[in-house]
Amino acid sequence: MSDAIKVGFVPLSSAARGILVVFCDDSLKLGPATAKALGSATDLVKRAASAAGFKGKTGAALDILAPEGLKAARLVVIGAGKAANLKANDFLKFGGVAASKLSAGSAAMTIIAELPDGAMASEQAVAIASGLRLRAYKFDRYKTKKKEGDEGAARAEISLAVGDAAAAKKAFVAAGHVVDGVIIARDLVNEPPNVLFPEEFARRAGQLRKLGVKIEVLDVKAMQKLGMGALLGVGQGSVRPSRTVIMRWDGGKKGEAPVAFVGKGVCFDTGGISIKSAGSMEDMKGDMGGAACVVGLMHALAARKAKANVVGAIGLVENMPDGNAQRPGDIVTSMSGQTIEIINTDAEGRLVLADVLWYVAKKTKPKFMVDLATLTGAIMVALGTEHAGMFSNNDELADRLLAAGIESGEKVWRMPLGPEYDKLIDSQFADMKNTGGRHGGSITAAQFLQRFVDGTPWAHLDIAGTAMGAPKTDINQSWGSGYGVRLLDRLVADHYERK
Ligand code: BES
Ligand code: MN
Ligand code: ZN
Repeated sequence: MSDAIKVGFVPLSSAARGILVVFCDDSLKLGPATAKALGSATDLVKRAASAAGFKGKTGAALDILAPEGLKAARLVVIGAGKAANLKANDFLKFGGVAASKLSAGSAAMTIIAELPDGAMASEQAVAIASGLRLRAYKFDRYKTKKKEGDEGAARAEISLAVGDAAAAKKAFVAAGHVVDGVIIARDLVNEPPNVLFPEEFARRAGQLRKLGVKIEVLDVKAMQKLGMGALLGVGQGSVRPSRTVIMRWDGGKKGEAPVAFVGKGVCFDTGGISIKSAGSMEDMKGDMGGAACVVGLMHALAARKAKANVVGAIGLVENMPDGNAQRPGDIVTSMSGQTIEIINTDAEGRLVLADVLWYVAKKTKPKFMVDLATLTGAIMVALGTEHAGMFSNNDELADRLLAAGIESGEKVWRMPLGPEYDKLIDSQFADMKNTGGRHGGSITAAQFLQRFVDGTPWAHLDIAGTAMGAPKTDINQSWGSGYGVRLLDRLVADHYERK
């Protein structure tokens, strides 16, 4: 894991070490413990704010170097705006903003986790701590030369001074496991495709065994036996054999139906015989962002011992052009028995998911399935990189995902499904074809998936715009974002855990 920063909690009255971070509201008001810690430097904040035009807007930062009257080399004042309006997500951002001030090389930071009205709840301080770690993450394991300043930031020790340090420390255990899950997902997305191919991905998913997750790996022979012709067709042009991994976390009532998460794990997508153009093809190492999210989520749930029965399933393939690759025109038979005419070998993610969704629906009879997939370029045309596209046959599940998206800041936007779209993938030679023409490309892809859920309540998240290459944010500077781990952890925590 590439975030070596240490985050701890200390009582509000503790002496500050290193960079000092405090909060103010939009009238530049400071909390009582903050004012006490700043002493005569309180006036300095007013003067610096006016010089910099700093108004205490939510998430804005006033950076004062060598503040007179303080031991700290740097004083950072973060705006909390109208403190009464703050949402959980804002506290994550505060942590991100604070972590961004570490790069100067100083190895210590103290954050006075106090709002201007004096109160900050433990879970708000914990969100700051999570934001710190999410922002500090860096994928640099292939850099043999580190930049100056990186070292200090990487080894930083950050203390959050809070009202109830013991309560915050306790609450950060679970939240820290969720951050670990995000980092695992980011690492997987960032890894190069010569390192992370299906077997290696399966091996890494197998590390969840240490947390008590049951792991089953289906190799090519096992998948042939099950009749997974759609998934296997995609992988047949690669020298790297395909795998499906099924993970189970049984933290709920014995015998209760699980909730299920399914991920697209195309470790590299060249397009196959319908080969992609060279521009940015390297990005297709991230075409396993759905699978990465499922592994990160299973880590988070198992590590924090979520009281729920959860299945995670990922279809792992490499889509390559080769003498043995599948052709446009081929007809494959899926595990469901339905036949598929291949029109474009680059529409491979839906073929992988078809068999894994069917397998999960039939073998685990879940309450619902949510799949995540970097499925279509078209979803970026529709929604950009701010929202994942959500398609669902179930309004309750869709509404819950929408709400979890707003809470976590990992937003989804619902897109339509319907019979008019569905008929666009009927084929003249087989039960269906794997593309639906130029229009509504994300929708016809979702219609294709729906033919393999067998009536199970289901939602599909098209994360092509959010899982990788999205603009950097306060809490993510990494190409692979780990999108979906916090969203789905929230969904499970809010609705599917035994109290
Ligand atoms: N993995 C791609 C989708 C993608 C594109 C994800 C860019 C992230 C960034 C997917 O397998 C694909 O190639 N989809 C095609 C479908 C088309 C052939 C119907 C697409 O979107 O062009
Ligand atoms: Mn493709
Ligand atoms: Zn793909």
